[in-house]
Amino acid sequence: MSEERKGDKSDSSSSGRSGGPMGALGKPVQKPKNFKATLRRLLKYLKPQRTKFMIVFVFAIMSTIFSILGPKVMGKAITKVAEGFGAKIMALQTNNPVPQLDFSYIGQIVLILLGLYIVSAAFGYAQQYIMAGVAQRTVYNMRKEVYGKLSILPLKFFDSRTHGEILSRVTNDIDNISTTLQQSLTQLITSIVTLIGVIVMMLTISPLLTLIIVFTLPLYIIVTLSIAKRSQRHFAAQQKSLGDINGHVEEMYSGHKLVKAYGHEDESIKTFNAINDRLYTAGFKAQFISGIIMPLMRFVGNLGYVIISVIGGIFAIRGLITIGDILAFIQYSRQFTMPIVQTANIVNIIQSTVASAERVFELLDEVEELPDGADAKVIAFPKGEVKFENVDFSYKEEEPLIKNVNIDIKQGHTIAIVGPTGAGKTTLVNLLMRFYEIDAGKITVDGVDIRDIKRGALRSIFGMVLQDTWLFNGTIMENIAYGREGATDEEVVEATRAAHAHHFIKTLPDGYNTILNEEASNISQGQKQLLTIARAILADPAILILDEATSSVDSRTEVYIQRAMNELMRGRTSFVIAHRLSTIRDAELILVMNKGSIIEMGNHTKLLAQNGFYAELYNSQFTGGNLTQEVV
Ligand SMILES: Nc1ncnc2c1ncn2[C@@H]1O[C@H](COP(=O)(O)OP(=O)(O)O)[C@@H](O)[C@H]1O
Ligand SMILES: [Mg+2]
Repeated sequence: MSEERKGDKSDSSSSGRSGGPMGALGKPVQKPKNFKATLRRLLKYLKPQRTKFMIVFVFAIMSTIFSILGPKVMGKAITKVAEGFGAKIMALQTNNPVPQLDFSYIGQIVLILLGLYIVSAAFGYAQQYIMAGVAQRTVYNMRKEVYGKLSILPLKFFDSRTHGEILSRVTNDIDNISTTLQQSLTQLITSIVTLIGVIVMMLTISPLLTLIIVFTLPLYIIVTLSIAKRSQRHFAAQQKSLGDINGHVEEMYSGHKLVKAYGHEDESIKTFNAINDRLYTAGFKAQFISGIIMPLMRFVGNLGYVIISVIGGIFAIRGLITIGDILAFIQYSRQFTMPIVQTANIVNIIQSTVASAERVFELLDEVEELPDGADAKVIAFPKGEVKFENVDFSYKEEEPLIKNVNIDIKQGHTIAIVGPTGAGKTTLVNLLMRFYEIDAGKITVDGVDIRDIKRGALRSIFGMVLQDTWLFNGTIMENIAYGREGATDEEVVEATRAAHAHHFIKTLPDGYNTILNEEASNISQGQKQLLTIARAILADPAILILDEATSSVDSRTEVYIQRAMNELMRGRTSFVIAHRLSTIRDAELILVMNKGSIIEMGNHTKLLAQNGFYAELYNSQFTGGNLTQEVV
């Protein structure tokens, strides 16, 4: 596995979040490159739902306000009770008649409290309900857009990116946005409203005590910042080790056989242990250091609590403040810390969300395949004549590859393309299918420039059988039927017979209903190839492309496959890229490629007579006693 791949593994995992709202304290955040512009664009997605959004905000504010009123009201009841008890004691001491506690007043307050909390909960409930809809609808649309985009991006886009990177944008990044919309936004509002509300309530009780509490604020900030700074380094190290360990495990798992075959188990375990040790150390430090933030916060909070209790006690004795108010104030002061920590944390979350959104938008902004022109054609009955005229092409601008290629292919002919690895054989095929746009020249099918043909229609003219057999998780029947929409079971079986695959399928316990697993490792490489040939036969394309279709099968199976392929090629224009030159001797035209150019062209006899590159290749395979040497 490449370094780059490992890098993006750790990258993708860091865009998810760990722990609850407090779990990520002090964790380094991914910062977006352009916060403002991205945020503005993200808000655009929410615009269609802005009414709901406003409702959510109002509900969140209401829910918070109603719950903030609680302690103050409760304080009144407590004051009343305390007064009642005070009066009782006085009465007992002075032998006066003992007054009754005013239970009806207390009962009223309890009812009010109950009402407050019920209303608050109702608003909270409604707010969550609406928000779930808003968040899910937003990311639903976003996912749809991204997926749609992926299908119109040119292959070029996928060449320069790993699967993990693309996958991470579709899943992790969008997930991140969804979670933030769902939880963090309302939490942010709630926190801010709570903070303001609590301060207001405290001010109504005692401005002096409020001042004392506000003075502890800097302490919170100092504690959080100094610890966060310390933990960040360890979080980064933890992230890196996590990426390394993912990479290592994946490499060892996918290369399982290789590791065993070469006896590298011990070494692999040793490497794993070393990385695991690093992960342990970094993880321990990061989690421990960020974990002590909360206790320290509580400690600062308790300091304030002690001061309030002492001063409040003195005030109460002097009759400056009621008992209930003191208790309410203490409750408020305890509610003070949480919103501060949460707000600080949410700021980070919003940053990482905007960074996620930025990655999603980047993908949405990628240059698409040129759309089909309004007058794009469909060739209804393709014959299969292909022409390359002065074609130039390069994958990367600075590295020209295909240079001035000219080929003229007649209907029904077989064209073999030979040459060393990297010569550009597959590239020619890619250009023909218009997977990439050529830089100069023209490619025509039946005389029509392929740029004037609808992409879908163009690609349906071709059938491909490649070296890596592309089979999906499903039954054999489904895999073959994929070649043509609406194919009946009978047609599939017929195609399979023609591909000489019917016999082996019948010997499988489940026959055509055998389910191919993810890697299709339950059948052999050659059998897989027969299935893809059957699929191509079923599709019945005008032009056939066989790109090293027999490269990874044994020579006994190759005989079968060769027979199946001959069946397939009959009457069709066929491009055959083959590594065993014996298989292409009968081709009408053989192109010999090297370094992106066609260096020799002609039929077998002519090329042999020319005594050039082809003759040399051919002789090295057949006469030099070196029968197994492969050209490709
Ligand atoms: N998607 C791609 N992006 C960039 N370069 C590529 C890509 N595919 C192939 N190449 C390069 O183009 C050259 C020709 O490749 P290819 O046509 O696959 O060769 P062949 O099929 O003859 O082995 C090679 O140097 C290869 O590295
Ligand atoms: Mg190739």
